[in-house]
Amino acid sequence: MKYWSWWLLVPALLCGCEQPDMADQPRLETYETGAAFNDGLAARPVPEGTVARDQRPAATENPLPINAETLAHGREQFDVFCAPCHGRNGRGQGVIVQRGFPAPPSLHRPRLRRAGDRHFYQVIRDGHGAMYAYASRVPEDQRWAIIAYIRSLQLSRNARLEDVPRDHRPLPDTGEDPP
Ligand code: HEC
Repeated sequence: MKYWSWWLLVPALLCGCEQPDMADQPRLETYETGAAFNDGLAARPVPEGTVARDQRPAATENPLPINAETLAHGREQFDVFCAPCHGRNGRGQGVIVQRGFPAPPSLHRPRLRRAGDRHFYQVIRDGHGAMYAYASRVPEDQRWAIIAYIRSLQLSRNARLEDVPRDHRPLPDTGEDPP
């Protein structure tokens, strides 16, 4: 055999020996008893003040900057996740509802216009009655973007002329040609 051909045997030798099982390590199972801690339990008490992932107390106000970018993002997410039931205009007549799913209330109802951002946040996270929870599909930032967009939808139905910046208001119709 030529000397280099010994190298061909190397992989075979490596595969032959027993690999240590990585899962088999000295550690305590969750409810096992063990001497590592004074109380003899492997399971440790949850430190005071621990908050489970996604159970952080939600802000009461929208923490995102309310600008065109946030609203565009919120609109996109609303149209994907909420509009199928709530309708793109928020009046509760989305395509799924038209096919028989229970109709949600209009988002323009006075009660929902008065409700704080936090209420919307909780409805998205935990669900509400016939509506499922969207916590696993709509992460936190997207929830707030959707809420900002819902606010703008609500406002769009109830805006007064004073809400529009002066230089965006239509010119009063004087019957004359604008200057
Ligand atoms: C599969 C249909 C469906 C989807 C998708 C859906 N909802 Fe709902 N939603 C409902 C229904 C039905 C109700 C009424 C539930 C009830 O009162 O039993 C509701 C209720 C609500 C309410 C009113 C809660 C109240 O106080 O009465 C809000 C706010 C809301 N949804 C927001 C959202 C948002 C935001 C999304 C998207 C992230 C969304 N929903 C997605 C069906 C849906």
